[in-house]
Amino acid sequence: MDKRTVRAGIVGAGFSATFHFEALKKVYGTNVQVEGVYALDTEQAKEYAKKRRIRAFGSLEQLIDSVDVVHVCAPASTHESIAIAVLEQDKFPIVEKPLTGYFGDGSEDFNGQDFPKTEALDQALASIERLIAAEAKSKSKILYAENWVYAPSIQKEREIIEKTGAQILWMHGEESHSGSHAEYYGFWKFAGGGVMIGKGCHPLTAALYLKRVEGKARSGRVIHPNSVSARTHIITRMPGFRDEGHIRTDYYDIDDFSLMHVVFEDGTLVDSVASAIILGGIHNELEVAANNHRTICNINPTSAIQTYNPVDENFADIYVVEKIGTKQGWSNPCPDEDWFTGYPQEIEAFYRAAAYGEPVERDSRLAADCISTIYSAYVSAEKMGAEVEIKTF
Ligand SMILES: NC(=O)c1ccc[n+]([C@@H]2O[C@H](COP(=O)([O-])OP(=O)(O)OC[C@H]3O[C@@H](n4cnc5c(N)ncnc54)[C@H](O)[C@@H]3O)[C@@H](O)[C@H]2O)c1
Repeated sequence: MDKRTVRAGIVGAGFSATFHFEALKKVYGTNVQVEGVYALDTEQAKEYAKKRRIRAFGSLEQLIDSVDVVHVCAPASTHESIAIAVLEQDKFPIVEKPLTGYFGDGSEDFNGQDFPKTEALDQALASIERLIAAEAKSKSKILYAENWVYAPSIQKEREIIEKTGAQILWMHGEESHSGSHAEYYGFWKFAGGGVMIGKGCHPLTAALYLKRVEGKARSGRVIHPNSVSARTHIITRMPGFRDEGHIRTDYYDIDDFSLMHVVFEDGTLVDSVASAIILGGIHNELEVAANNHRTICNINPTSAIQTYNPVDENFADIYVVEKIGTKQGWSNPCPDEDWFTGYPQEIEAFYRAAAYGEPVERDSRLAADCISTIYSAYVSAEKMGAEVEIKTF
């Protein structure tokens, strides 16, 4: 069969735009023609474009006009408007996590710590409704870039659940590290919250996805989350926090530790921790306790290789693993971090979906359930952990 050619455009020229471009180079199901990049920071966009020999567009509209697929690699506060503009042209938005959210009242000095979280929940749900309505009107669809769903360890667990008819009883997941690199992260008005959404969306979405898989495999019906109890904390801005320089501390108005306890409609559970206070490299893990097996999905670190290096500077030019503080001593270098993390697999699936209409593992409804659960969790955290019902999609 002749491969179709899909024209790609990238919005944003920072961290996620970089790994999206690397994943695009590996797409094999279609031909990919990267037309160019657009970013608010025009200097950064020019540099990004020059390095990759692509065009830097002068406006978002020009970029959308020139492509079939738009990678939305800009802060979460931009996702809804960009995705809707792309859907209106019947083109495919690949939207980085989180799908959308609540980004304040528009004031420059909006502070995420002191406003009613029910307001955030209501507005985030309204944003989801607008996105789903735009998708329903469009000939294309939202391709939600939650890489955990495509991480090979999570996909192996999907196979185990489907083929053994397993019932998941409890999952516990975590995404933690020592602090985000992105400047935008740290401000509720750009990120839509703190660590509970920024990192917590990853293990939570993987857990919501696996319960969907379970429900569909046994009865053809999705198992939805029903309620959530949550706590959030601000550890790095506590008066008593003793900063020794290893953990990022300059967040403006966001939580840096969070815990969600979600009860599904069948009474089963997921506990999901997210934090920005953990040393030793990124910690991404989901453990599944089922009625017929138990699985630990180690997305990072993995023990694929373990290395002892006696002199830190010997590894100066060697990438070891995301957010590792030192390369001296024992470490678990990730032999192909993007692959273990699911980036090339998700991009491959999205291009096949755009070119040939092939199905994707997760759709806008899963993304919507994730957003709804997290903002319900913020309401719960405001009530010091009271149980809050979740609206699902
Ligand atoms: N899946 C993952 O593992 C992962 C990892 C990091 C970030 N992300 C997500 O990717 C998104 C971007 O984060 P990042 O880390 O790449 O941020 P970043 O700060 O590294 O880059 C953001 C880019 O967006 C551009 N930008 C800002 N506002 C814009 C606008 N209105 N229009 C066009 N461009 C705009 C900036 O100029 C910059 O180039 C976020 O939604 C984040 O949650 C996902």
